[in-house]
Amino acid sequence: MDLTALKAKFSELYGQAPEAVFFSPGRVNLIGEHTDYNGGYVFPCALSYGTYLLVRKTDNQTVKFASTNLELKVDIAIQDLKKKQPNDAWVNYPLGVIEQFSKIGIDVTGLDLLYSGNIPNGAGLSSSASIELVTSVMINNLFGGKLPMLELVKMSQMAENQFVGVNCGIMDQFAVGMGKANHALALKCDTLKFSEVPLKLDGYKIVIANTNKRRGLADSKYNERRSECEKALEEMNLEGKYNSLSDIDFDTFNKIYARLSDEVLLRRARHVITENQRVLDAMKALSKNNLAELGQLMNGSHVSLRDDYEVTGSELDALVEEAWRVEGVIGSRMTGAGFGGCTVSIVKDSAVDNFIETVGPAYEARTGLKPDFYIADVGDGARQLE
Ligand code: GLA
Repeated sequence: MDLTALKAKFSELYGQAPEAVFFSPGRVNLIGEHTDYNGGYVFPCALSYGTYLLVRKTDNQTVKFASTNLELKVDIAIQDLKKKQPNDAWVNYPLGVIEQFSKIGIDVTGLDLLYSGNIPNGAGLSSSASIELVTSVMINNLFGGKLPMLELVKMSQMAENQFVGVNCGIMDQFAVGMGKANHALALKCDTLKFSEVPLKLDGYKIVIANTNKRRGLADSKYNERRSECEKALEEMNLEGKYNSLSDIDFDTFNKIYARLSDEVLLRRARHVITENQRVLDAMKALSKNNLAELGQLMNGSHVSLRDDYEVTGSELDALVEEAWRVEGVIGSRMTGAGFGGCTVSIVKDSAVDNFIETVGPAYEARTGLKPDFYIADVGDGARQLE
């Protein structure tokens, strides 16, 4: 749906035109998975697609939520904004953000809202962080918050942790809020020190492929991995020297891993520690225009997520394995939390059509699912459009 059609939809729903329009992207992570909540390195970029939010302030004592993607339309009285809606309701994302603002003394008044996303929901491209940030920027701009983007990023993560109840790290909200067109963000997640790295992919495209596998159990498995990492850290941290697994380099790990009480914890920790090194190497490879090496590191990341971290599953593995077979693919891996969702591949321009034509049917033959493909266009972070 284009913006003109969206505005017409808003007027049809609410009887008046919107007074402002906001946009927040989705994100794709190139490398550095399950490192963010371990204080490590990630390398994501914002996409040119994401979530639009059209809005009008009203004199009503209600906030009206509508979405073009999901048929659900709800009106919530101002005094009920702090009550969580039934578990899977998408309005919990904006409600969580509204609660964060309320905690710092910024309360919303009556609003008519229309959300419209053009990223697939729940596919590992951060549709939820996108809804959170677009809501944060809207409240900040319309209710005089004057908060810097980094603050909105942190509040959006808190909304997801505290209100929605998913214990995610900061990568998604950071990428969605701070993204820059044609750049990836090299971010260290404990200090939040970051740099914008130009994506010089001359002759290549970033291709995203959606497994279209439903991500059942993903949240509980995600939280389970987090606790395994905490346990591994605790067992290795006898002298109390480390704040996170990311403070341990591979050489040190080799000296102390015998402290771990079981083999599963060893593999979880080894993934985090080797993945951090792969991200650093990938940033270097990109700065030297060594795309072949970047691709190898992406492949290594997938193998580690499959064997050591065990978050891929047969669909993601099939999609990646089929991508690896195609001439002109220099790297392919799962992206996001895993257990379904998307893969990211770097593919030679001239090989993209063949990639889609070959990988699609081969994946379908193996899994019975039809994948979707998107060419990633790397865009800017969350902002007001009008
Ligand atoms: C999800 C979470 C992120 C991050 C990734 C895995 O996208 O929201 O915080 O942990 O999984 O890298």
